[in-house]
Formats: sequence, structure tokens, C-alpha cells
Amino acid sequence: MLSIDISHAASFLPLPYEAALRPRLERAAGWLQNGGGKGSDFIGWVTLPRDYDRGEYARILAAAKKIQGDSKALVVIGIGGSYLGARGVIECLCSPNYNLKKKSTPNIYFIGNGLSSDALREVIELIGDDDFSVNVISKSGTTTEPAVAFRFFREKLEKKYGKAEAAKRIYATTDAHKGALKSLADQEGYEEFVVPDNIGGRYSVLTAVGLLPIAVAGVDLDELMGGAQEMMSLCSKNDYNNPAWQYAAMRHELYRQGKKVELLACFEPAFRFMAEWWKQLYGESEGKEEKGLFPASVDFTADLHSMGQYIQQGERMLMETVVRFAPAEHQMIVPFDEVNGDGLNFLAGKTMDFINRQAMDGTLLAHVEGGVPNIILNLDENNARTMGQLIYFFEYACGLSGYLLGVNPFDQPGVEAYKKNMFALLGKPGYEEMGEELRKRLR
Ligand code: PA5
Repeated sequence: MLSIDISHAASFLPLPYEAALRPRLERAAGWLQNGGGKGSDFIGWVTLPRDYDRGEYARILAAAKKIQGDSKALVVIGIGGSYLGARGVIECLCSPNYNLKKKSTPNIYFIGNGLSSDALREVIELIGDDDFSVNVISKSGTTTEPAVAFRFFREKLEKKYGKAEAAKRIYATTDAHKGALKSLADQEGYEEFVVPDNIGGRYSVLTAVGLLPIAVAGVDLDELMGGAQEMMSLCSKNDYNNPAWQYAAMRHELYRQGKKVELLACFEPAFRFMAEWWKQLYGESEGKEEKGLFPASVDFTADLHSMGQYIQQGERMLMETVVRFAPAEHQMIVPFDEVNGDGLNFLAGKTMDFINRQAMDGTLLAHVEGGVPNIILNLDENNARTMGQLIYFFEYACGLSGYLLGVNPFDQPGVEAYKKNMFALLGKPGYEEMGEELRKRLR
């Protein structure tokens, strides 16, 4: 089970804060559980691990099985909340080198998460003549990046299999009622999965958005949802035994004391995309009204040799949250070397995990002494169940954190600014005048 250790951060706070924050946390928890707070139309994820649609869940499992049987590759088209969670879980549980491994499940390519021509061409080339399927994911159904990518892969599928057969290989995950993708899916007869109305993109990893790609990679969905449900019941407790309360309260107080950047750190490189998912979750939920901790991430120990200097001695506006995993199942043991030319025989017979753990402890002491409060999240296993716990923990703590900050944790008004400019510059109908004006400014 996930547990939290805030003892290496507490000394940075001049006054006891828990009692003072309690009424605000109680109110925030009430808003998450019963509505009434800002953005309360989007709290469907709070009870999702218990109340998810069993019928759709069975269809997800069946679709995953079909894709595993008829495809060598699955192309997952989506951006932001419509891909980061799935990629994070797959990389963390199956490996960042998942596609390179010998396995019985299909390769999974994530595309439509940017506008790079090279990235698009590369995926098309990598698939080559292999049998493949497409999962196009967009809650709004109108996001430019995935919509453009989908055109290319739909065309490739239709050329390879013909229109009717191609339609059987396209799975659309989108809104239940509206949007261009919904209309297209209805018209072409694609199998459809729903992003529930009351769940926003960055809180949607445990809906079909994340579950279909994750199931195709062979991860046990029952375990993932079971873990999330365990954490849901822990988080429903309105006191400081709840790890989400501890995390939300601590990071809020540290922010008030001038810690403006939160680094999410992990000593497992496979965690990298979970950190990307976390950055979106917290950045989009809190970063508004000129407030919010800036979420950043580091891969240790690699980044100790690049960012480590700044963390130790740069501007003191950092706090760190470190995710620690249980020891790996397969232990690598440092071999003994007669000659000992590298002087490393003092490590001979030690496991890599032991060495990594000493690096963790050494880094913890150094960073705390250097003025960087550390929160530690311990996972006693590295599997689908603990991943479900971690996902729900971060989501719930994020909802609490947004409410403590006084913002709406479920909207993202700031994302629209670049989109409008891009549409205007691209000449989208309706944006002509704005386009003229922007072009003048760029001259
Ligand atoms: O959290 C959010 O709502 C956003 O980051 C979306 O996930 C992202 O913009 C993609 O949107 P859509 O799924 O509508 O294509």
C-alpha cells in the first residue's frame, strides 16, 4: 500500500499548520465528495473506481483482446490527458522499452501529441506493412493535434484494409454526445468508448481513455482498478490519516513559505511518463489566477549529474516529492573482480537496489540539509495495484490542493489562448480578422 512520509519536510514549517488547515481541508473534501465547490460538474472521477460502467469495462477488455489477436501495433492518438496516463502506466509497468521487448502483445505507438512532421512520419514508417489498429482519443473531439494525426492513420488503414475493414480497426474514445470525432465515429461505425461528461481529460486515465491502451499492453485492469478503489476508500476519510490530506496540506504550506517549484523525483527511469502525467495533472489544475506550485520532474540518479547542482545550491524555492518503489523482483548483483582495477570491489556482492537505496538516502539528507524539503511516497510493490493507488492518490490530493489554493481544479481556461492564435494563423474559418491582426504583429 502507498504510504507517505512528511517528516523530512515538517522542519521547514515554522508553525504547526495541521489544525489550522483542518477546516479548509474538510470543506475541500466535502466539495470533492458531494459537490458544491468550483468545477463540481467534473468530480465524476472521485467515485469512478467503485462506480465505473461494468458494461463498457467488459467491452474494453474484449476490444483489447481483439487488438492483441489481430494487430502487431496499436496507434494511440491523443494529447494531454488523452494519452499521458496510458503512456505513464505502460512505461512504468511494462518498460519504457516496451516496443523493443520480445512479447506477445502489440507494440504501442503514441502520436497526435504534437505537430511534428518527423514524429508522424516515423510512426508510419515503424508500422510499415504490419497489421495495426488505431485508438483515437479526444474528449472534445475537436483537438487539432490528434484530429490531424487521425487523418493520416485513417487513410493508411483504409488503403491497407478497405474502408469497411478499416472501420473495424478503429476505436474512438470520446464524448458520449457531441464533437466531430463522435459524429465521425457514428457515421463510420467505429467502436466507441466514452469519456464521461463529469470527468475532465487529466482525471480520465481510469476511464476508457487510459484503460484500453493499458489493457492492450497486457496490464491487469482489475488490479489497477482494485488499487484505485483501495485508495478511494482511504482518501474518503476526512482526517490526517489520509495520505492525500497530508500531501495536500504539506505542499500548500510549503508553497505559502516560498517554495514555488515542486520537483517530482524518482530513482526508476521507467517512472518518467508517470511524472509527465503528474505534471499535467497539477500544472493544469493549480496554475491559474497567477498562483500555483510549478510542477517539474527529475530522473535520479541521472539528473543528479545535471540538475543536482541547482537543487543543492540554487535559488531556495524548491520542494521535492520523491516516489520510492519496493526493491525490484529480479536483483542484479555487482560481480567480484580479482584485479579490482576500478576499485569497486567494496560493492561486490551488493544488489543494485541496495546501491540505489543508499543513493536515495544520501540524496535525501543532502537535499534536506541544502534547504529542500522532501516528501516521500513509498510504494511497497511495483505493480498494477500500487499504480492504481498512486494514480488515485495524486488525483484526490490534486483536487484538495486546488481547493486549498482557491482555484477551480477542473478547468483550463489558459490553454485556449494558444489555440485561438494557432487557428487564426492557420486561417480557420471564423478567425480571418484575428489572423490578419496577428500576422501584422509578427512582421
Ligand atoms: O485536461 C484536459 O482537459 C486537457 O489537457 C485535455 O486532456 C487535452 O487538451 C486533450 O483534449 P481532448 O481530449 O479534448 O482532445
